[in-house]
Amino acid sequence: MNHPMPPETSEAPLAPGQRLPRSERKEFSAEALQEIAAIAAKYPDKLAATLPALHIAQREFGFTSLDAMKAVAKALSIPEGHVFGVASFYTMYQKQPVGKYHLQVCTNISCALSGGAQLLEKVCQRAGVQPGEGPSKDGLWSVEEVECLAACGSGPCLQVNHDIYDEYVDERKLDEIMQACKRGEYREWAK
Ligand code: FES
Repeated sequence: MNHPMPPETSEAPLAPGQRLPRSERKEFSAEALQEIAAIAAKYPDKLAATLPALHIAQREFGFTSLDAMKAVAKALSIPEGHVFGVASFYTMYQKQPVGKYHLQVCTNISCALSGGAQLLEKVCQRAGVQPGEGPSKDGLWSVEEVECLAACGSGPCLQVNHDIYDEYVDERKLDEIMQACKRGEYREWAK
């Protein structure tokens, strides 16, 4: 299916009072464009490639900035409004910069019953930032309170960047994980 080329958008906020931060990168790399084209070729409608293209954008741009969304629309030749709608619906697309290690704590019911709120508090104390506050001063950490991570039987559950800890995370385990991050033993957010 053909879609009209996205219109040139203004810098208008997405919602009243909301203005997204800019990212340093404005365009996809040639490799990312090839990756997106290969994904889009699998579908009869390019709109179907929006989600994977946004993941690639998040990886390349560091977060799902307005420029990243525009680049996705341009790469797929689909309306920018569609990309904005998809990106703003899913919380997994970070619309604000995050730290090198984005610590996501589940506080849904099963995790709440086994100490999710307490784990979130400990994570915030150690990271030195509150949920949604953006990266810590050293750029290492950011924290997010998230919905169910699909590991309800072994919570409270923690996800570091794209890796879920589906095992009980107590203070000792949390310290181990954060120390390992500092030693560079974990994949960084945008790599
Ligand atoms: S409720 Fe926390 S992983 Fe499901």
